[in-house]
Amino acid sequence: MTTAPAIGQPLDRVDGRPKVTGTARYSAEIPIPGTAYACLVGSRVASGRITGIDASSAQAEEGVLAVLTHQNLPRIAEQPPLVPSLAGTAAPGQTFFPMQDDIVHYAGQHIAIVVADTWERAQHAASLLRVSYEETPPVTTLEQGRDQAYEPERIFGGWLPGRVERGNIDAGLAEADARVEATFTYAANNHNPIEPSCTTAEWDGDELVLYDSTQGVNATQLTVARLLGTPLSKIRVIGHYVGGSFGSKAMIHDHAALAAMAAREVGRPVKLALSREQMFTSVGHREEQEQEIVLGATRDGRLTGIRHHKLSPTSHFDDWAEPSIGVASEIYACPNYQGVYRLFRANTMTPTFMRAPGEASGMLALECAMDELAQELGVEPIELRLRNYTDASPSSGHPWSSSGLRECYRRGAARFGWEGRDPRPGMRREGNWLIGTGMASAGYPVAPPANPQRARARLYADGTALVQAATPDFGTGVATVMTQVAADGLGMPVDRCRFENGDTDLPNIAAAVGSAGAGMISAAVHSAATALRNQLIARAVADANSPLHGANPVDVVVRDGVMTAGTASDSYVDLLQRNVQPDAEASGAWSPPAGDAPYAMMTFGAQFAEVAVDPEFGLVRVRRMTGAFAPGRVLNPKLARSQLMGGMLWGLGQALLEANYTHPRTGRWANASLGEYLVAVNADAPDVDVELVEVEDDIVNPLGVKGVGEVGQVGAAAAIANAVWHATGRRVRKMPITIEDLL
Ligand code: MOS
Repeated sequence: MTTAPAIGQPLDRVDGRPKVTGTARYSAEIPIPGTAYACLVGSRVASGRITGIDASSAQAEEGVLAVLTHQNLPRIAEQPPLVPSLAGTAAPGQTFFPMQDDIVHYAGQHIAIVVADTWERAQHAASLLRVSYEETPPVTTLEQGRDQAYEPERIFGGWLPGRVERGNIDAGLAEADARVEATFTYAANNHNPIEPSCTTAEWDGDELVLYDSTQGVNATQLTVARLLGTPLSKIRVIGHYVGGSFGSKAMIHDHAALAAMAAREVGRPVKLALSREQMFTSVGHREEQEQEIVLGATRDGRLTGIRHHKLSPTSHFDDWAEPSIGVASEIYACPNYQGVYRLFRANTMTPTFMRAPGEASGMLALECAMDELAQELGVEPIELRLRNYTDASPSSGHPWSSSGLRECYRRGAARFGWEGRDPRPGMRREGNWLIGTGMASAGYPVAPPANPQRARARLYADGTALVQAATPDFGTGVATVMTQVAADGLGMPVDRCRFENGDTDLPNIAAAVGSAGAGMISAAVHSAATALRNQLIARAVADANSPLHGANPVDVVVRDGVMTAGTASDSYVDLLQRNVQPDAEASGAWSPPAGDAPYAMMTFGAQFAEVAVDPEFGLVRVRRMTGAFAPGRVLNPKLARSQLMGGMLWGLGQALLEANYTHPRTGRWANASLGEYLVAVNADAPDVDVELVEVEDDIVNPLGVKGVGEVGQVGAAAAIANAVWHATGRRVRKMPITIEDLL
């Protein structure tokens, strides 16, 4: 009896039971005797200077162990540069570390830590701090900063240029028969994973253990090591369970190092958990922004030029913009292109990654403009996109390693029932509701990590296997799919394999960011598992007591832990037991393809939405969403669907719900709670239909995995906004679309 390959099976989550039964321990739940509790205090003002901190009443409270401020917190050893964590280096969320001086750069900036023996005492004592400020008027909004905007040389931690051009944009737009010009504004978005960030720090002499809620335990280790000047070998970071993220835990924000500093100060383990409100000022956000897009096209709908300019606030220290022009500059054949970022210095922390960082906002502008162009030219929206389809990156000319985009349009449209749609707006009515449908393209770059990824596989003589890699599973299902990858690599049943992860003592893996997790981790795990299989086969054919003795290793196949060549077979267990070996082990590594490979890599998809709009109340209800995506090989269709569905629903939030604004006078966030910052909940969730279009890709990584983490969000909001237009005839170019926009 043989088992089917584990890859491709809709295996349930291996960590599902501990999560739903409450035995999974998150970073705030690690029981360490003697733990003290740290409460962060944020600046009330957004700009200025701290003139005094009176900590006397806080310090007098029972159980208070320390009050740390810029006056007594030790200086950091070194501020590492801001580099995206996929680079595999230190990855601080910003190049500013708090409590090193008295300057206040943004509201909520951490200005004190109160440590006490209980969480309640720490919070109470924190409320007793008397802080005085010298305030200066803050700059936070687009209107306040617009006039001071500059063009940065590079953005995004230096990874991307501030301007991208090809062809001649002026000539391209001049030769156009039709032109669409539109300006889109976007509210800022904040991170609200189920588990707010938390770090628990424990020193043993000069050795530090951090239990951190992070997308990359190595990223935390590398960052804290630099900030504290502690050798890497002395810092271990553990993150066995992480309760969601998508960007808030992709970079390492200051609380991780602050927990370690506080623990050193009080000589006890310290738990530093962010409150929900502190999540709005401590872990970055998707910046407020404005995008101007101009499309030029021939009468038959071929794009002759795209101009895409973005304006957004950044911090006093870093040139950060989410790369909104990225996918939008690459997805269509268009010879003339200009994309420009403009930034202004504002009283904000450095913005950060948020799911489909840049792609979701940039494709919203492009895909809504494409819908306008389709309307203006009288070309059916999918047909317009097909006329601009490209098999190769329009900037480099390199062919896509794989695409599947046309198949996504076709299969998505079929599932959604797009065909026969009346293109005219405002034509369908059901009672008080106007009904409309819309679509958009989706794309997300396949971004390989910058350094080799490693994993380790061990087989025990009892016939079970353990496969290890450092990566945390922040809720995407990585531990589950890696169990499947390990099983197939080893030639073992999946229920006899276990994946252990979330610990820097395990082989290094870059942070699971940029939808690169499944691809890079599966490559390392596959490499380790096949290395171990090959080692065991080599041993069997060399073993005089093995029925496989003398067989050619390449003829040996392994199923269910049994090695077979022709009619002869030997099992892993027999081999190890015969040789009195309790276990066997192998390491594996995968080095991503060099950057000069002659391919461009992108994951594609197509989004469809149907909305109902009540024009008297300005209500929008998304009635159904269909997404078709081509993410390369699908390791686990159940988990892939869940990722894509989550992305699509976040797109719904982007279109209709999620918004934060700063008060122009105080510079503080208006909606710093889940009461006011709205995220899509079940009541907002329509039927979401996900179609997986498998495409083969031999280029991206050994298993051909392109990733599903973020592409599901790209284009989802555009499809909804286009459906709102189709329902009502109104183009709303402000995200989110709210009641007052439709009255
Ligand atoms: Mo993703 S926004 O790189 O966590």
